[in-house]
Amino acid sequence: MPGVCVIGLQWGDEAKGKVVDLLTQQHQVVVRYQGGANAGHTVVADGQTYKLSLIPSGILHPGVTCVIATGVVIDPAVLLAEIEQLQQRGVEVAGRLLVSDRAHVIFPWHIEEDRIFGQRALDEGEAIGTTLRGIGPCYRDKVGRYFAIRVGDLLRSDAEERIRRVAEEKNRALRARAGDQFQELDGRRIAQQYRQYAEQLAPYVADTTEFLLSALEQQQHVLFEGAQGALLDVDHGTFPYVTSSNSSGLGVSSGSGVPGRYIQRVIGVVKAYTTRVGGGPFPTEQDNAIGEHLRRRGNEYGTVTRRPRRCGWFDAVAARYTARISGVDHLAVTLLDVLSGLPELKVCTAYRIGQRQVSSFPSHAQDLEQAEPVYETLPGWQEDISQVRQIEDLPQAARDYLDCLSRLVGRPVKLVSVGPDRCQTMFVPAASGDQLLVGGDV
Ligand code: IMP
Repeated sequence: MPGVCVIGLQWGDEAKGKVVDLLTQQHQVVVRYQGGANAGHTVVADGQTYKLSLIPSGILHPGVTCVIATGVVIDPAVLLAEIEQLQQRGVEVAGRLLVSDRAHVIFPWHIEEDRIFGQRALDEGEAIGTTLRGIGPCYRDKVGRYFAIRVGDLLRSDAEERIRRVAEEKNRALRARAGDQFQELDGRRIAQQYRQYAEQLAPYVADTTEFLLSALEQQQHVLFEGAQGALLDVDHGTFPYVTSSNSSGLGVSSGSGVPGRYIQRVIGVVKAYTTRVGGGPFPTEQDNAIGEHLRRRGNEYGTVTRRPRRCGWFDAVAARYTARISGVDHLAVTLLDVLSGLPELKVCTAYRIGQRQVSSFPSHAQDLEQAEPVYETLPGWQEDISQVRQIEDLPQAARDYLDCLSRLVGRPVKLVSVGPDRCQTMFVPAASGDQLLVGGDV
């Protein structure tokens, strides 16, 4: 059962890309299975900087096949720009990228809807603060079915007619909603544009479910790369302040078409502290000098939107919950170096909500909004640890901090990252049969 998953356990931006990059060396296939161009990572390889949001960074490893599976929502303009960026720099994409024919397509009306509905929510003080990439509206059409268009539909002879028909419906609905704040969509032009996109994408379109099942049946090693973080899961996250897909480990099967029995290992990635972009409750948020330290040292600005990220202490109640729902085996702790220089560190172990103290994660955003964190306080360390390469060379306070996270989340820490470079990674020595990576350490 050679499937491995990498899942972010917080509100996204846990530096999963680095963990995926390290693991890719041991896999033949890398899969994105949910979300869309709301995710984003910058990958530096051989002195070149690549900005990718839909194509897995595995594309930079020759010999690896990359799959954009059924559960992803695809903006063809973004995908084609990424393909072009890669090809211009000599990265072979043809024959190495497969795009699901079942994946749903983002259209200009989805981006308009994200803007118009998001603005209304902001006026009413309830903003989710989306990335404005049309993600939620596209998933809404998928579930609603009437206005949905899938990648496979784009390749059919009636595609242009269908796009024009949906554009008319959308014009009516958006005009009714936004009046003169809305500029009419030209259905004919959009249909022509998407026909061109379809022609360009056709060589990559495939039945990815069939491909993945066959690969796993042939014992190929498949890496599933989660986007966003489990607290943004539409069913299990901090609803309604979530994204519109299953970003926890629970989304792997529905998004890829691969049943859970093929998943051998789930790695949960956490930052050594917590961040969040956009609206919604965040009990351990530090809107003060500590938050500023984390933002500055951790360069905490959104990759897609450049918004400053909200920063706070590690929330073990939340991470324990998401580790459990995601079926996590091991933790990878990233950005530990960012904590250097703080006199003391706090980790949230429970919440006080009204008269009650709870250690389980509340299902209602309002309860979480009112939650007062109960903290365990640990000594900090002053040393710069970004050059440390062995766990035993970390300051005692840093090792104690890692032990504390492991104890409270209930999972062993197997990987620790102290900087963006591949070499700034430490592996906790594996007990036999308990390696982080397939076939042993990197
Ligand atoms: P949407 O996914 O654009 O609909 O945005 C919904 C919420 O998820 C907003 O709070 C976003 O800031 C957040 N979000 C979406 N994608 C990411 C991500 O990749 N990292 C962190 N937050 C994200």
